[in-house]
Amino acid sequence: MWWTMSVAGGYCSKKTDAYCADFCGQDSDRASPISRLRCLLRGVDLRTYLLLLVLVPTLVVSIYVHGQKITYFLRPLWESPPKPFRDIPHYYNENVSMHTLCKLHGWGVREFPRRVYDAVLFSNELDILTIRWKELYPYVNQFVLLESNSTFTGFPKPLIFGANRDRFKFVEPRLTYGTIPGRFKKGENPFVEEAYQRVALDQLLKIAGISNDDLLIMSDVDEIPSRHTINLLRWCDDIPPILHLRLKNYLYSFEFLEDDNSWRASVHRYQSGKTKYAHYRQTDDLLADAGWHCSFCFRHISEFIFKVTAYSHFDRVRFRHYLNPKRVQRLICKGSDLFDMLPEEHTFKEIIAKMGPIPHSYSAVHLPSYLLEEADKYKFLLPGNCYRESG
Ligand SMILES: *[C@@H]1O[C@H](CO)[C@@H](O)[C@H](O)[C@H]1NC(C)=O
Ligand SMILES: *[C@@H]1O[C@H](CO)[C@@H](O)[C@H](O)[C@H]1NC(C)=O
Repeated sequence: MWWTMSVAGGYCSKKTDAYCADFCGQDSDRASPISRLRCLLRGVDLRTYLLLLVLVPTLVVSIYVHGQKITYFLRPLWESPPKPFRDIPHYYNENVSMHTLCKLHGWGVREFPRRVYDAVLFSNELDILTIRWKELYPYVNQFVLLESNSTFTGFPKPLIFGANRDRFKFVEPRLTYGTIPGRFKKGENPFVEEAYQRVALDQLLKIAGISNDDLLIMSDVDEIPSRHTINLLRWCDDIPPILHLRLKNYLYSFEFLEDDNSWRASVHRYQSGKTKYAHYRQTDDLLADAGWHCSFCFRHISEFIFKVTAYSHFDRVRFRHYLNPKRVQRLICKGSDLFDMLPEEHTFKEIIAKMGPIPHSYSAVHLPSYLLEEADKYKFLLPGNCYRESG
């Protein structure tokens, strides 16, 4: 509306056509550039100027604020989906014998189980680490944990595990704990520090005594394989040398089930000199329904804020108010993204299907057993308890 009004109200409206043509038309060849510009501007009135004055900054600001969203939404145009995994069906029921379970997967059963190593890089996930280690405890021979006094983003951090080691007495006889000093390189890509820490974890595994054909779990602390999955893999012969685990993706707690597409966790039959600790795709084989990935599953708001500043996607924190505790609490209860980002999917159909908050789930079936045994202590991870402790 404004546009048409301003054009119609311009000085070069029909009535003054002759004057305009006279001044700006034929004679314009001889006119100076300045007067030609004056002619051009004459056709635009004050309201249009004001409109441009408002419109242009609005456009610039909204591209600044939503630019990331726009590029994410257009991802299907500039990035083709990765090669699909080869999904391996996973059979399990607690009343079926190991002999039968291995056979169902096309594997033989061993006379004795493999030794199992669980190795993690630790940042600050004390609660989820407890749930992980309690879940895996019956079948893991060595828990290997490495901690640095630098975050991936190069900020100093206290040795949080070291300071809380007495909370983990139950694993003490099976624990190999290592620390590594940060390099504190300013302005470096956080993935470099992360890679550096993973190399140190390879060393720590050797110190812990890992040997050929031992089973090695490579995953982040919050990617928890289910107990029965590890039991199956340690008892069956002929399992693939490397196997990714398909985990259910949860956000903030087990109340928000996002999808079952977490695949980074992997299990390796260790080969000395060949196996390297990694968190990227290493093979096509993906075992279905093998556990849980609970991202940002923290007890305190302060832990969310620490994690956000410490981890390798710090670039997603584009505005200070993203870290306002009230905002964080509100988004946790809604199941909305902390970074106001669009889903990282490769088809428009998936992006649109996943836009907006994650729907609430009311199922607490088939979760890590320790979570239910100690439900009072870990209420914040169960459906219907989104309010976090401050501090
Ligand atoms: C499961 O196995 C146990 C022990 O073998 C047996 O006592 C029980 O009856 C079985 N339950 C079912 C539902 O088959
Ligand atoms: C990190 O640890 C190393 C080795 O213990 C120490 O020399 C260094 O001062 C520590 N840095 C910070 C910032 O704590």
